[in-house]
Amino acid sequence: MNGRGLGRSVKVFGTVQGLRAARAAWRRRRTDAWGLPARGAERARVPGAVVGAEPLPGGGVVRFARSQLRVRVAAGGSVFWGWDGAEPEPSYALAGRLPEVDPRAGLEPDKDGGWRVVSERVTVAVSRHGAVEIRTPGGVVLRRDLPPRWWEPVAGGPARWLQRSEVAADARFFGLGGRSSGPRLRDGTYRLWNTDPRGAFGPGDDPLYITMPVQLVVADAGTHLAFVDNSWEGRVTLREGEEGAGSGHDRPGTCEVRVAGGPLRGWVLVGPPARVLRGWTALTGAPALPPAWALGAQHARWGFGSEQEVRRVVAGYRERGLPLSAVHLDIDHYDGHRVFTVDRARFPDLPGLAEELRAEGVRLVSIVDPAVKAEPGGAVYDSGSAAGAFVRDARGREVRGEVWPGECVYPDFTDPEVREWWGGLYEERLAQGFSGVWHDMNEPVSFAPFGDMTLPRSARHVLEGHGGDHREAHNVYGLAMARAAYEGLRRLRPQERPFLFSRSGWAGMQRYGGTWSGDVATGWPGLRASLSLVLGLGLCGVPYSGPDVGGFDGSPSPELYLRWFQLGAYLPLFRTHAAIDAGRREPWEFGPQVLGHAKAAMLERERLRPYFVTLAQLARLTGAPYVRPLWWGAPEDRALRDCEDAFLLGDALLVAPVLARGTDRRAVRLPRGRWYDTVTGEAYEGPGQVLLDAPLSRIPVLARAGAVIPVRGEDGGTELEVWAPAAGRSGGGLVVEDSGDVSAVAELERYASRLVGGRVVVERVAEGGVVKADRPVRVRGLDTV
Ligand code: NOJ
Repeated sequence: MNGRGLGRSVKVFGTVQGLRAARAAWRRRRTDAWGLPARGAERARVPGAVVGAEPLPGGGVVRFARSQLRVRVAAGGSVFWGWDGAEPEPSYALAGRLPEVDPRAGLEPDKDGGWRVVSERVTVAVSRHGAVEIRTPGGVVLRRDLPPRWWEPVAGGPARWLQRSEVAADARFFGLGGRSSGPRLRDGTYRLWNTDPRGAFGPGDDPLYITMPVQLVVADAGTHLAFVDNSWEGRVTLREGEEGAGSGHDRPGTCEVRVAGGPLRGWVLVGPPARVLRGWTALTGAPALPPAWALGAQHARWGFGSEQEVRRVVAGYRERGLPLSAVHLDIDHYDGHRVFTVDRARFPDLPGLAEELRAEGVRLVSIVDPAVKAEPGGAVYDSGSAAGAFVRDARGREVRGEVWPGECVYPDFTDPEVREWWGGLYEERLAQGFSGVWHDMNEPVSFAPFGDMTLPRSARHVLEGHGGDHREAHNVYGLAMARAAYEGLRRLRPQERPFLFSRSGWAGMQRYGGTWSGDVATGWPGLRASLSLVLGLGLCGVPYSGPDVGGFDGSPSPELYLRWFQLGAYLPLFRTHAAIDAGRREPWEFGPQVLGHAKAAMLERERLRPYFVTLAQLARLTGAPYVRPLWWGAPEDRALRDCEDAFLLGDALLVAPVLARGTDRRAVRLPRGRWYDTVTGEAYEGPGQVLLDAPLSRIPVLARAGAVIPVRGEDGGTELEVWAPAAGRSGGGLVVEDSGDVSAVAELERYASRLVGGRVVVERVAEGGVVKADRPVRVRGLDTV
């Protein structure tokens, strides 16, 4: 048996399930042998030479001997390109409203028989053989997509294709969804196929649960985001370039995207990182706003086992003065692991428990798995079966897989009617008193000791009516499930913002909620992978995520647990969680010293809650992730591009977690400007590298000079922590409060700070001028000015 995940399930459930999983894997293989004919002989194709062009608003169509290319430039500078008649819609990624075309941009002849579209922010040049260059307005090439190649089965069927692109020799790649080995993506091949990595993963395990054909490329010449809008299985091979490689010439960086079928189309967005993410959000949708409580500390556990144990853990937090916002119940609270059920023997009164916890400010969150136990008489199975809601094979039979409850069927979330049915089922969760949901196993998983742990590729899906198979539906399965739940919860509780986070997903998933790391391995490499995932996902437009603090499996050493906790306290989703057979994760289980330091981290998180609320609102308004790479505001700084062990939290803070054992001092790379150590008040000047103390009690956190940070004051109200601007410089910050109202339009309070005669002046920038700040102000760092 080679499956680590299956090994885990066998350990938990005995060999019966192991045997059933093996049977399910064989069944999947047989289903595909019947339902997916071999590809057979193929014909290769390239576009050929240009034969003409037809201008249209925002661009036009360039015709080649054997294909055609549509180019459409939108007013904000985002570029759509589509070969072979591919249009932007329909798409699972897009938010539904395409950005307006730039009316002034149109196709015009270029040199050497090519064509180009010139717009204010970007120029697209199409060569006469179909290479597409994306250039800055100043004419610098950011990306060159070489003419694509297709391989079409002679007997008919989807054509697979390859697109090779070149970027600057100094460029760095980021993104591609949640990758454990980033955030800077090194040379190698990254699969596009959402995958449960079979147990706990570490850096280098690839692919994981969320893969996306979204890459952010950062180079001296500029930043761009390239998105291939195609959900089929694929691979991306990246190779960084080399300056002055052979005989003094630069070797460009290269990127090869291979996809097994589906449209050859995509988008490119150019500009500074903040503008790129703003454009990406406009295209794929604003991130759902988590309810304010979801920005506090949360505790999950696979295997609470009973209501009493939940009470015991919550009391443990309360008695030690540790703030707690939510407790997450895993599959062990289900009846026989069946989704939308409760084990009444061990959880006899969940609504009562929820009410009791709510009274002390603790919410309950429920896991929700997509697979439904295939058992006539089960309410969910019966209603889904009657509605024809489950995925079928090419012969029309329900596809069966093996998951926690045993033999299961899978709702087809690519069918709008199934989404509606499934969304209604969350009524049961709400009636049980849950305030949020945690989607798991939705790659989707079917345990298998060999081959892919998922559905047969030939399984049929509705795909919004156009029909297709799992090769196309697989990567969007989790996204479509999230949509079903989000829309269902909105219908069921129109006055509340849904809280949802999902293990699997795809481009655009932020419209419905966030995600978490999945089963990150307990160990120092797993801690590092946690940060890589959060940073990479943020750059793909998914700002709300975080790891299983302490790691999913085994038992972390007290030191590792503490360092993970200290990192987690600065990430959007701050949640401890672990497997059923793993050691404890409560902060008091690692001795009094760890408890003291963990408590300090939690209290600091609480103090920063107004800042987190502001960052959540800003992510929604602008697409800027809470957690940003250090190069966010200075992509031209090469040293920052290569720095992977620290991050910016919003504009104001720089967090430098400890990622290695035995560390009490660490090097921290600073972007330009003055930075204050928030504990010692010491000032440092960037750019450059400094050595900072990182005793067990804390990780280094620096504040940008001039920053205005909303923090919770002692009376519980929001006050402004202002870090003295450097002489001759000014600063500022934003505050957005959360009224909790679903339909409220966020009101931005803008503050400016400056030094006048050695004193820090903070003013609110209002319409028509500046006024005195109407919140309490606390100045820091002044004695070092
Ligand atoms: C896998 C998830 O990643 C993990 O968080 C959860 O505890 C288990 N499934 C059991 O539901």
